[in-house]
Amino acid sequence: MATEQTQDVAVDGAGSAGSESLSVTDNRTGDTYEIEITDGTVKAMDFRQIKVSENDFGLMTFDPAFTNTASCRSAITFIDGEAGVLEHRGIPIDQLCERSSFLEVAYLLVFGELPTQAQLDTWVHDITHHTYVHENIKKFVEGFRYDAHPMGMLLASVGALSTFYPDAKKLDDPEERYLATIRLIAKMPTLAAFAYRHNMGLPYIYPDNDLTYPENFLSMLFKMTEVKYEPDPRLAKALDVLFILHADHEQNCSTNAVRAVGSSEVDPYSAVAAGVAALYGPLHGGANEAVLRMLRRIETTDNIADFLEGVKNREERLMGFGHRVYKNYDPRAQIIKKNVDEVLEATGENPLLDIAVELEKHALEDDYFTERKLYPNVDFYSGLIYEALKIPTEMFTVIFAIPRTAGWIAQWLEHMDDPEQKIARPRQIYTGEREADYVPIEDRSGAETIDGPPAKRPA
Ligand code: ACO
Repeated sequence: MATEQTQDVAVDGAGSAGSESLSVTDNRTGDTYEIEITDGTVKAMDFRQIKVSENDFGLMTFDPAFTNTASCRSAITFIDGEAGVLEHRGIPIDQLCERSSFLEVAYLLVFGELPTQAQLDTWVHDITHHTYVHENIKKFVEGFRYDAHPMGMLLASVGALSTFYPDAKKLDDPEERYLATIRLIAKMPTLAAFAYRHNMGLPYIYPDNDLTYPENFLSMLFKMTEVKYEPDPRLAKALDVLFILHADHEQNCSTNAVRAVGSSEVDPYSAVAAGVAALYGPLHGGANEAVLRMLRRIETTDNIADFLEGVKNREERLMGFGHRVYKNYDPRAQIIKKNVDEVLEATGENPLLDIAVELEKHALEDDYFTERKLYPNVDFYSGLIYEALKIPTEMFTVIFAIPRTAGWIAQWLEHMDDPEQKIARPRQIYTGEREADYVPIEDRSGAETIDGPPAKRPA
């Protein structure tokens, strides 16, 4: 097994200038190794040959949270975090927001190129005609408590889809893959809307196939006694742009979860349920919910300076700011900011927007944030749009999950066809005891002799 390495390993490229390799000298042994560089990366497995003895496991790389490790090759989404660039299949996000629709972007993500009119028509038709869910799903959503968090309900119901479509386990069958792709994109808004109506104590609204994808979602959320729900086109358009902005974002926490869980060759519904679970967390998809709570807590623009002092003293985080990849303005935040104004024109002013604008201004003028390259991310403004649409805060992450499903399934499909992939199974540096003897319970002296977790156990 690997032991923690304490001696230095010098890594330099000096001896091999121009030869796309690293010359690595292990100062423990004096041995030098040539490590190939491909696509600006070295293979972690190439370091395994570096050993101090025959029995040595070999050198491992250590990268908690994968901050400098590529886990796959992908042709879906390109991000340049320093320059603030986001492209899907090479097309810049601003062009897609301006000229495309969410369902067309979903096609682009899944199939790798923009559809012809006939391909788009078939795609939209297939998705529109798979929006209904089995009646039993409705029954089990009814079984949740009235105040169940809608993200918990979505997580459970997406996972449950696998039990309704057992043939989705035939992972190599192209027809089954297509059906799972269509069903996931089609049913996610229905499941999300059911969760919302359940919280509100309102009857569930069935999908309306005459409406577009975002219009139908608004209908399933808000339709009351009217025979036909007529969505405000400005709101439907804003929602469609939000869907495009959230469709994919390469190897983020939830996508990594989908790929890692999918690597066990489980069905795609279960893999996507793992993505929903990851998205639920406040450092990921839960951030837009947290932004709104933060803005409400700040209450008025007069409190902004005090609030930012608290952030700088590390008493709390400025939610909606900072990003693992973007060390510049998140390009999605700029597009959303424009959208906020159009939505508020349709829905009326919102005092939280004044706080958000002022808070952003203060933070961008403050060295604490600029030195750390902390800029607004997509979630700083998306919550304000949902709020203007009168969507409760708990639903924000649920709505994020709808478009991200297109990205998850595109990434899952790519993963399934990637010959370099295997079941995900990271290594560890073991830090615990070795070869300890089992002590009978009557001979154990008590928790005070044990370090770590027992102190956290309830009394
Ligand atoms: N508020 C205050 N300080 C921050 C924030 C923030 N939002 N984000 C980062 N920092 C500080 C850290 O304290 C750290 O400071 P230090 O070097 O003095 O210790 C420095 O900036 C670097 O931060 P890291 O935590 O190392 O950055 P990381 O890349 O790990 O975190 C993350 C990225 C999780 C998004 C973080 O910026 C954060 O928590 N932001 C708020 C939550 C949020 O908005 N998440 C949404 C992300 S977008 C999405 O998921 C769709």
